[in-house]
Order: sequence, then structure tokens, then C-alpha cells
Amino acid sequence: MPKSVLDDVVVAGWNDLDALTAAFDRHPGEIAAVMMEPVMVNGGAVVPDDGYLAGVRDLCRVKGALFICDEVITGFRVALRGAQARLGVTADLAIYAKAVAAGFPLAMVAGRRDVMDTLLDKGVMHGGTYNGNVQSMAAAIAALDELERDDGAVYRVLEQRGSRLMQGLASLAAKHRVPMRVQGLPAIFQTFFTTGPAPRNYRDALACDRDRALAFHCALQEEGIRINQMAKWFLSTAHDDAIIDETLAAADRAMATLK
Ligand SMILES: Cc1ncc(COP(=O)(O)O)c(C=O)c1O
Repeated sequence: MPKSVLDDVVVAGWNDLDALTAAFDRHPGEIAAVMMEPVMVNGGAVVPDDGYLAGVRDLCRVKGALFICDEVITGFRVALRGAQARLGVTADLAIYAKAVAAGFPLAMVAGRRDVMDTLLDKGVMHGGTYNGNVQSMAAAIAALDELERDDGAVYRVLEQRGSRLMQGLASLAAKHRVPMRVQGLPAIFQTFFTTGPAPRNYRDALACDRDRALAFHCALQEEGIRINQMAKWFLSTAHDDAIIDETLAAADRAMATLK
């Protein structure tokens, strides 16, 4: 990204309402919107502290800024209605992609009617070549039918399997005396190597032992299990109980090589 992007952006530490308040104070009347992942996945699978998202929403209201949730990763993954439903906070605008069309290319924006209506009659331009692409829309409808079936039964299974995987990995870390934390939500979590407290933001995540995380990643890959290079674990509905068992057995062997 060119540095000039920063001319229009103020960066404030995530999960830190004081930092956001200070940013508003430093730029009075200049901040149009605050954008963040509601559960930070890029940069560490961190669930926000209690009250943080509601605090951001309220601060945005007071300051006249829009609160935008980037649910590109969390949307349709941590719950049918995304992280916002799971955490009980609704943003003014939200963006989605990835899971919404089960792998077909689709991104979308949703939001408060009065904000969305600016696309119709307040001169906000929205162009694009593949808007409403037929295959992607059909894929999204088919995916949402699956995700909605039996009142979101698929999420209950995902939660169960993800929790079992998370707990299994934490037990293996204890067994091998490896300082590994398993943090996040069952559908997306991260394995951090640290003896310190649970990471609450990107800086904390960066301070963890990345060499060891990479060594674990490589050892797992030798065992035929490929996790994300940042040691993030994404669960799919295709990961059945047998695959969870197989993964835990592989993690057991991989962890033994870390000592
Ligand atoms: C949370 C999040 N937001 C936005 C994006 C970027 O989406 P795009 O590739 O459409 O710019 C990504 C890409 O992976 C992402 O993980």
C-alpha cells in the first residue's frame, strides 16, 4: 500500500477505548468512520474485551462517525449473523466476503437503511463490473440455505468440534510442557507460544514466540496437517470428528519435536 493511504487514516490500538477516544480528540470533526474487525482475526484471534465494541459504537454515535465492522472473516463463520450477533453489538455498516458464498468470489456491504440509501439518492457512487454476478449470487443463496438449515445446526456442530480441537490442543501443550495458548473462537482460533498473558491486541500477538509458532506449523505440515502460517486454525464444516482426532494425533507428534 502506498504511504499516502495514511494521509486519510488514523490508526488507533484495537481493544483500547482510551486510544480511540484520544484519536477522536486529536482529530475533532475529522473522523468519518471507525472500521475494525469485531473479533480481530488478522493479527491474532482476539475476542474483544467485554464492553469494548459497545463502547466503540457509543463513542461513534456521540462523535457523529459511522461504526463499520469488517466481517470479511468472521461473517457467516462465527455465527450465522456474524460476530456482531455473537457479541450483541450492531454496527452502522458491515462488510462480508469469504464464507458468504462458500468459496465463490463475493463481497458485500450491508448497513443501516439511511446510510445505504445514500447510494440511491445522496450522490454516493457505487460502481463495479461483477456486481450481482449470477454464479456468485447463486452460490451465496445455496450456501446460506445450508448454513440456515435446522436453525443453524451446522454452527452447533462446528462449535462442538472446534471446542474439542481447542481443548485437545491445550491439553497436549500441558502434556508436552509447551507454553502454548489456544485462543479465539471454535471456528477460528490461534495457537500462540507465550508464557505471558493472553494477547489482547496486535502488539501482544507480535510479542509471542513466532519462531516456535513456525516450527509447530512446519512440524504439523510434516504430519500432513496444514494450518495457516500465522498459526491460525480455520474450521470448516468438512472437518468431521475423525479429522479432529487425526489432527490431535498429529499435533501430539508435532509437539514432541518442539522441545
Ligand atoms: C478481515 C479482512 N478484511 C478485508 C480483506 C480484504 O478483502 P479484499 O481482498 O476484497 O480487499 C481481507 C482479506 O483477506 C480480510 O481478511
